[in-house]
Amino acid sequence: MLARLLPSLAVVLSLRAYQCIAQCSNATTTLRNAADITQLASCKTFTGTIVVATNSAAVIDIPGLETLQGDFIAANNSILTTLSSATFAVITGTVLFQNLPVLTNLTLPNWISSGTLHFDTVPEPTVHDFQQNGQQVNNLIVRNTSFAFLAGLALQGAQMDTLEIVDNPYLQIVDLQMGNISQSGTITGSSADMVLTLPNLTYAYQLIVANGSQIMLPRLQAVNGGLSISSVKSPNISAPALTFVGGDLDISDCGLSELDLNELVNVQGSVNFVNNAQLADLSGLSSLSVVGGLELVGSFSK
Ligand SMILES: *[C@@H]1O[C@H](CO)[C@@H](O)[C@H](O)[C@H]1NC(C)=O
Ligand SMILES: *[C@@H]1O[C@H](CO)[C@@H](O)[C@H](O)[C@H]1NC(C)=O
Ligand SMILES: *[C@@H]1O[C@H](CO)[C@@H](O)[C@H](O)[C@H]1NC(C)=O
Ligand SMILES: *[C@@H]1O[C@H](CO)[C@@H](O)[C@H](O)[C@H]1NC(C)=O
Ligand SMILES: *[C@@H]1O[C@H](CO)[C@@H](O)[C@H](O)[C@H]1NC(C)=O
Ligand SMILES: *[C@@H]1O[C@H](CO)[C@@H](O)[C@H](O)[C@H]1NC(C)=O
Ligand SMILES: *[C@@H]1O[C@H](CO)[C@@H](O)[C@H](O)[C@H]1NC(C)=O
Ligand SMILES: *[C@@H]1O[C@H](CO)[C@@H](O)[C@H](O)[C@H]1NC(C)=O
Repeated sequence: MLARLLPSLAVVLSLRAYQCIAQCSNATTTLRNAADITQLASCKTFTGTIVVATNSAAVIDIPGLETLQGDFIAANNSILTTLSSATFAVITGTVLFQNLPVLTNLTLPNWISSGTLHFDTVPEPTVHDFQQNGQQVNNLIVRNTSFAFLAGLALQGAQMDTLEIVDNPYLQIVDLQMGNISQSGTITGSSADMVLTLPNLTYAYQLIVANGSQIMLPRLQAVNGGLSISSVKSPNISAPALTFVGGDLDISDCGLSELDLNELVNVQGSVNFVNNAQLADLSGLSSLSVVGGLELVGSFSK
């Protein structure tokens, strides 16, 4: 009985495998309309690049697909208002949202990870439905958006490579939970009121922050390259666990009157404090014992 069943099962399996190869991989699949989406709907995993056509329907809802081994690109489309998928979870390559002036609804409640997540020149969606736990990206790039906050993004992953949040003039809140940034973190050109909180960051290869009102890096222990902070209004800059900076430590044009860098022992590069008009007291550097150089511009009394 079993022996007679097995061959037919094998035929079914190989037919399935064949269908999957035929439909579920393609160098590039372009989504224009419902028919293109229906073709994809039978694939749980698709291998290749999925591109939303520049003249697609206004609403693109992708059912069924869970894993994309490749890139997902929605760009240069002035019609797209809604991009949604109840199933989309993992995209191994890059997810690019670029030049989507009327995007208002980004509903990806199952999304969990991407190689790169890249927003470029998009308005803040009025609806954004992302699940909140265990998000992981290697790179997050947010450039020239009108986002006020990074809605739905928590990035609890232990490690990421690059964080680039640049030229988002309305951005008020950045609060991300990654443990390490193995390459660089750059957060510049945000609103002057931006509050940056990286509560779990313990290590960054390099960190550059400009424009904002407050910076909180409660667990940051070491920066291998340089650490640069400029044009931040807050009267204090807090990195109470920081012990080591492998490059220069630059703090310039900031409003701070006190520092809390009391664990900082070693700055391999130069310590440069320039044009911080309120900063007269350097007692917040009580452990500093090794510096590669020193440039202090201002009037210091302590
Ligand atoms: C695969 O790509 C070709 C060329 O872009 C396209 O004509 C075809 O419809 C695609 N097949 C699927 C299943 O997406
Ligand atoms: C969208 O258009 C811009 C400007 O023309 C271009 O630089 C960019 O490469 C385009 N994006 C994609 C994904 O084709
Ligand atoms: C956003 O898109 C989702 C999925 O297509 C839909 O269920 C929801 O109603 C949309 N929300 C709004 C406010 O349009
Ligand atoms: C930034 O976004 C605005 C629209 O919000 C657009 O007009 C401008 O071209 C974008 N700049 C760059 C450098 O992409
Ligand atoms: C990050 O830190 C916050 C506050 O300390 C904590 O609640 C959260 O669980 C941490 N997240 C991760 C991924 O470690
Ligand atoms: C962050 O990097 C440090 C130093 O390389 C390492 O000891 C630590 O385990 C890393 N933490 C995470 C959460 O990956
Ligand atoms: C943002 O910070 C940079 C670096 O300090 C500074 O040159 C620039 O003027 C600031 N921009 C605004 C709008 O304050
Ligand atoms: C830093 O200053 C802010 C006000 O800008 C204040 O709320 C906060 O408690 C201060 N933090 C520390 C560690 O002094």
